[in-house]
Amino acid sequence: MVEKENILDSNNITGDEFESNIRPQRLDDYIGQSDVKENVRVFIEAAKMRDESLDHVLLYGPPGLGKTTLAHIIANELGVNIKTASGPSIEKSGDLAAILSTLEPGDVLFIDEIHRMPRIVEEILYPAMEDFQLDIIIGSEGNTKSIKINLPPFTLVGATTRSGDLSSPLRDRFGIVCKLNYYTTEELADIVKRTSKIIGVGINDDAAIELAKRSRKTPRIANRLYKRVRDFAIVAGLDKIDIDVTKSALDRLKVDEYGLDEIDIEYLTSLIKKFNGGPVGLETIATSIGEEVTTIEDVVEPFLLQEGFIKRTRSGRIATEKSYEHLGINHSYTLFDTIGE
Ligand SMILES: Nc1ncnc2c1ncn2[C@@H]1O[C@H](COP(=O)(O)OP(=O)(O)OP(=O)(O)O)[C@@H](O)[C@H]1O
Ligand SMILES: [Mg+2]
Repeated sequence: MVEKENILDSNNITGDEFESNIRPQRLDDYIGQSDVKENVRVFIEAAKMRDESLDHVLLYGPPGLGKTTLAHIIANELGVNIKTASGPSIEKSGDLAAILSTLEPGDVLFIDEIHRMPRIVEEILYPAMEDFQLDIIIGSEGNTKSIKINLPPFTLVGATTRSGDLSSPLRDRFGIVCKLNYYTTEELADIVKRTSKIIGVGINDDAAIELAKRSRKTPRIANRLYKRVRDFAIVAGLDKIDIDVTKSALDRLKVDEYGLDEIDIEYLTSLIKKFNGGPVGLETIATSIGEEVTTIEDVVEPFLLQEGFIKRTRSGRIATEKSYEHLGINHSYTLFDTIGE
């Protein structure tokens, strides 16, 4: 299948070097999320003062809001190493044992997409988190024995876009649970300005605000749009990004004033025109626009819900008045139209 290039898809990873240059390294450079940030700051300080490992931390929230960034910052602020893994890549309990056995006292183990870890692996993690002990079974067929290995104290930082998919025994073992929220326009404008300083192509305040407004309240998207707008500015021979080049670039990239992109518009159009505004099930709507169910649920819908374009009801998704208005479709007309069919 050919991947659609989608500039607003915050899952779409491109330009690794750009990413690593602009990713904040310290809490002070992490913009917004003030409650989370201040709590984390206190817990880190306390752990250092007690000379103990930091309690396990669960970070959850939609893609691109800064979970991976915060995990690295936590390790940096603690002054320890970070080992990273992702839920689906830890297939067997042996894989987890191998990672755990490399940890040094106080280290951070970051497990991304922790909700996708196999249950059998999860069960090994419980005693590791609670008692810093690894219970593993060695040998094969009729000749197995269980051994316990002591681990150094460590901090597990888990990240997930879906805290609801986490089993409750796992969730309960995190002492610190942080929900990351969507960013305000001002915070995103600050992130864009910070990025522009690092990259070296400046941006005017009004241009930064315009870009922020169209970034789906998400830093990853703000940075990505900055990068594209910068290209337009350079080609136009500007030495600073202004409001005009920002607007024309964003229009050309088909990012509308709410930050909705082609998939969002397709989703809403389908919901309204094919399903009469709903209620319609997730799988049905995903199939109707040829997208993966997970993309719809993790990337598209959280923002549409948050912005009040759709509602989730017991019987399915429904389009709100705001969607009809945004697409310029007359609500009563659509109803009448279908009744008449
Ligand atoms: N608070 C912040 N301040 C400044 N920049 C940020 C902040 N949060 C995120 N960013 C920027 O946004 C980018 C995306 O953040 P990050 O990769 O941490 O998101 P994520 O929540 O881990 O996403 P995913 O769920 O897709 O893994 C980072 O490269 C970073 O540059
Ligand atoms: Mg991440």
